[in-house]
Amino acid sequence: MKKFLDLISEEIKQAFEAAGYDAELGKVTLSNRPDLCEYQCNGAMAGAKLYRKAPIKIAGEVAEKCLDSGIFSSVEAVPPGFLNLKVKESVAAEYLTQMRKEEKFGLEMPESPKKIIIDYGGPNVAKPLHVGHLRSAIIGESIKRIARYAGHDIIGDIHLGDWGLQMGLIITELKERRPELVYFDGAYEGEYPKEPPFTISELEEIYPTASGKSKEDPAYKERAMDATFKLQSGVRGYRALWHHIMDVSVEDLKKNYENLSVDFDLWKGESDVHDMIPAMVEDMKAGGHAHLSDGALVVDVKEETDTKEIPPCMILKSDGAALYNTTDLATILDRMRRYQPDKLIYLTDKRQELYFEQVFRCARKTGLVGPETELLHIGFGTMNGKDGKPFKTREGGVMRLETLIAEINEEMYRKITDNREISSQEARETAKTVALSAIKYGDLSNQASKDYIFDIDKFTSFEGDTGPYILYTIVRIKSILAKYRQQSGRNADACALREAGSGSEKSLMLEIAKFNAMMEGACEESAPHKVCAYIYDLANAFNRFYHETKILTEENEEKKSGWIALLVLARDVLEVCISVLGFSAPERM
Ligand code: ARG
Repeated sequence: MKKFLDLISEEIKQAFEAAGYDAELGKVTLSNRPDLCEYQCNGAMAGAKLYRKAPIKIAGEVAEKCLDSGIFSSVEAVPPGFLNLKVKESVAAEYLTQMRKEEKFGLEMPESPKKIIIDYGGPNVAKPLHVGHLRSAIIGESIKRIARYAGHDIIGDIHLGDWGLQMGLIITELKERRPELVYFDGAYEGEYPKEPPFTISELEEIYPTASGKSKEDPAYKERAMDATFKLQSGVRGYRALWHHIMDVSVEDLKKNYENLSVDFDLWKGESDVHDMIPAMVEDMKAGGHAHLSDGALVVDVKEETDTKEIPPCMILKSDGAALYNTTDLATILDRMRRYQPDKLIYLTDKRQELYFEQVFRCARKTGLVGPETELLHIGFGTMNGKDGKPFKTREGGVMRLETLIAEINEEMYRKITDNREISSQEARETAKTVALSAIKYGDLSNQASKDYIFDIDKFTSFEGDTGPYILYTIVRIKSILAKYRQQSGRNADACALREAGSGSEKSLMLEIAKFNAMMEGACEESAPHKVCAYIYDLANAFNRFYHETKILTEENEEKKSGWIALLVLARDVLEVCISVLGFSAPERM
């Protein structure tokens, strides 16, 4: 289905042409003076230079050609040469009627859907999730859902950090504490126990202890590095322990991500590509791309056009060990072989920008990725506390994700039960749903690359540009629809849209009509904040209409059912939007 702006642009383009001017001048945009008009066209201003004519004259001639337009109720030429436009009520109503009939409200599906892999989450096994993991999960999940809704084939991969020194550290600490465990008996040839020798809470205590010790004690660190090496070279007992660590940890991670409504199609990790590294490195050497520099193997990735220094991409350290880079490159190789994606998207903190630049260049230069595959790193800013510094606990420590979520749930529960009769179970569930909207919307409504302030009071407010406000609006619509059903016995879905009878009703309709253009843009630019901005405007437009209109007590049945139809569409569009943002609305709140 055509985008609304394109539809009206077409008419103005024709008018330019009919008046003897270049049709391309007739591009229509939203009005930046909503008090004067709904849309505007500034083409006469550009035409003035081209045709050496006063812009107001051109605008006047174009306006004249629109006198019996089927689309506009008014086309006004105003000095110095703008065209101020208003569309007919009937056009908006027809467009929305069509939207309701179309699948995905008129969002056109791509002719050739793209295969996209999105790498987000990126937690490290055996370390608890903390607030630093929040943005990757929230933004990545939303980008994935938007692309999927827009018709692309998108695969989300968590890309676990499951192969590095932290594994060696855990094994070392475990050996220190319980050397008698069969895993450490090199002569043992039997099967290893099915039950892991630790719980998740033990694991979460073991890791920081080991990490602390390794910082103080070089010999301890040496042992941890040795254990990492043994694990990676396949020592049976170590591998068996690794599997236990993975099982216990992944189960816990799954629970945590589930609480955030974040789910991954692939639970792959760094370990999965370990065996691909030697051959990949050999190819890089054979292709003449990798060379030794101070004992380390590197690939130069700087280009003549660089304005800043781009250091070489290190492939192997001088002791032959693989690095973070190496794993990412091998993962690219694996993804290209298995899925032949058109695009790879990575979500990390923006401090990894240079790192990904190096990795991408290296992948292209060494032929892991061809020119037809797009590589995109989306670097997000920091989540700060009210003091403007990275978000911390009151004691100044790193806050666990579980703690943060629990605190917001609590705050939401307090707000929901304040002065109200509601069963505590329902309140708990509703609080959880609304809290998730508060966290996610608070994050997603900002452009990803910017830092933002995580302000619990603001995010949980039912007023303003917040998740709870959006949900409150949806719930309000749902409640009107439910009352309508009760009152009239009619099915709201069967109601037909009518021409707007008031300014606020028309504004609401014109907001809704932006849906397909908005969603297409949000997908192309991987920009969930565009969906947020759209639903905020939509919710505002709805609430203005609602406060001005006595919907349920309206006596003219036809009028009433037209409004009900509009509400149905507003609700459906809002619900699709929040679902691509990664949260949902309760029935009541
Ligand atoms: N595990 C990494 C970390 O904690 C993040 C992984 C990001 N993704 C990637 N493909 N490098 O820093």
